[in-house]
Amino acid sequence: MCKADTLERLKGAGAIGIIRVSTAQDLIRIAKALYDGGLFCLEITMTTPGALRAIEEAREELPDVLMGAGTVLDAPTARQAILSGAQFLVTPTVELDVIETAHRYGVPVIPGAMTPTEILTCWEAGADMVKVFPAEVLGPAYIKAIRGPLPQIPLVPTGGITADNAGDYIRAGAAMVCAGSWLVDKKAVAAGEVEVLHEKARKLVAAVREARGA
Ligand code: 3PG
Repeated sequence: MCKADTLERLKGAGAIGIIRVSTAQDLIRIAKALYDGGLFCLEITMTTPGALRAIEEAREELPDVLMGAGTVLDAPTARQAILSGAQFLVTPTVELDVIETAHRYGVPVIPGAMTPTEILTCWEAGADMVKVFPAEVLGPAYIKAIRGPLPQIPLVPTGGITADNAGDYIRAGAAMVCAGSWLVDKKAVAAGEVEVLHEKARKLVAAVREARGA
């Protein structure tokens, strides 16, 4: 899939599910539950043990999922993630070498930024969208405020996103949202209750759709 198609699918989806877990053991089951709930853009964070192998496996097992690598902090990790099949990259912070590496290999990149200057720096360096992190301390009003002077930058609020507040961020002008700990509920994962994750994914997708008036 070419970069433009991946970006179009990401934006169309409106939500990315972040899988940040302490063991890769149930990772495919988690990803499948989220996918069955309607989330087809998923990010496996590089903090997850065996994350690169998990991305490879997920690409094989769930070919219809757009699989990204998250918490990519440097160019070597970006390169390894891309070689493992990552279809997009996400960073928590302004990492210009990750943006450069993603561009080199034609993979969309969503770097993390907080201040207007950081957001613009990422955009000028070639970010395809900019993750606004940590959104929970900024709120939807922050997204609306940034969209005033910087309407050309697609923003992806991340941190504290739930089905209850995702719509507020979309209505404030977010291009899409990223949800992690609320979605991949640790207790449900520990108990093997993947149906909880499935239901949360369904609610998140529905909230984004509703806010978009779709
Ligand atoms: C991440 O794990 O990259 C983000 O911090 C996600 O935030 P959340 O777990 O609050 O959704």
